[in-house]
Amino acid sequence: MKKLLVTGAAGFIGSNFVAWMLDKYPDYHITVLDKMTYAGNLDNLKRVDNNPRYRFVKGDIADPVAVDNAIAAQGCDTIINFAAESHVDRSITEPDAFIKTDVYGVYVLLEAARSLGVERFLQVSTDEVYGDIVAPNSSHETDMLSPSSPYSASKAGGELVARAYFATYNVPVIITRGSNNYGPYQYPEKLIPLFITNALEDKQLPVYGDGKQIRDWIYVMDHCEGIDVALHRGTPGEIYNVGGGNERYNIDITQLILQLTGKPQSLIKYVTDRPGHDRRYSLDTTKLRGLGWQPRYTFEQAMEETVRWYSDNRDWWQRIKSGEYAEFYNKQYTNR
Ligand code: NAD
Ligand code: TYD
Repeated sequence: MKKLLVTGAAGFIGSNFVAWMLDKYPDYHITVLDKMTYAGNLDNLKRVDNNPRYRFVKGDIADPVAVDNAIAAQGCDTIINFAAESHVDRSITEPDAFIKTDVYGVYVLLEAARSLGVERFLQVSTDEVYGDIVAPNSSHETDMLSPSSPYSASKAGGELVARAYFATYNVPVIITRGSNNYGPYQYPEKLIPLFITNALEDKQLPVYGDGKQIRDWIYVMDHCEGIDVALHRGTPGEIYNVGGGNERYNIDITQLILQLTGKPQSLIKYVTDRPGHDRRYSLDTTKLRGLGWQPRYTFEQAMEETVRWYSDNRDWWQRIKSGEYAEFYNKQYTNR
């Protein structure tokens, strides 16, 4: 395993993963393939720009020619697929791109993996494929899939195609199911970066419904390390949950952000709930822990660091918020 194709790495998790891998494995070469949707941002990859073992190719994973071109220059023995449409709210208003990228795009990559005979194909998936989990239960890898949103359904679809390529063609597929991530370089449409940046700008924090939904939060670098462990020590055909074990109510996260930014309670605004909104996610991570992984960061410490990062990197998010984002935000939140 030396020549990696990492797709979708101009986004949040993929860019952190590329930085982690280049640093940890001095003999690995990484080609990033990214379509540069609204969520793709080359600023996220600036920290690896000068590394001679990194190259960037712009292209769509759903386009077989773009995939072949990305691989042609230096070959590829491993594919790690982060590329996806990733935001639940956007999947509710515009599901089309989710099916194209998160299902068909995975199929195109699997076809490439099959013809290349790669050593590993790692499909980055999500705990949302399990759907709503009633307390005190936690999801195990063998549990039924029950996705609620077009986003989670498309991710479940991508996983199932990947699984079929393992069973039918022996493509050495490994699937990881991560829980909700937070950390630097996250597009400010997701709860934590949206609320931190809104608070820093003295704007309202729009809490959906009663704010009593629960997510299991993981710091992005713990997720990256979990994917690394599954990639190197996991067994083809297997699925690994990657969860932080930090279950929090959305309203408690909101309060913590106000406290860390020193802003008043009056910024909280309860707004109409998201349709099909899952109440709770919870992952059992015994299987991945059995491979020697465990999260390194505590929630409190990593949240403090995350708030500091957004407050020190205003240029990064202010550039985003002044673009296409403003239109999305108005559509999503005005008169909600
Ligand atoms: P993101 O939205 O920040 O980044 C997605 C990246 O994929 C962007 O750079 C975008 O340009 C690229 N992309 C989109 N469509 C593409 C296409 N057709 N071809 C090539 N590139 C394309 O997403 P993220 O939060 O970094 O998530 C990365 C992966 O991790 C996704 O597969 C997501 O489902 C999964 N995941 C995310 C979380 C989370 O909390 N963010 C949790 C678990 C799993
Ligand atoms: P999000 O970050 O969109 O991740 P996901 O929906 O994939 O879990 O949302 C996390 C939780 O925060 C989810 O329960 C929805 C809620 N939420 C809000 O209350 N307000 C918001 O503006 C956003 C974006 C999310």
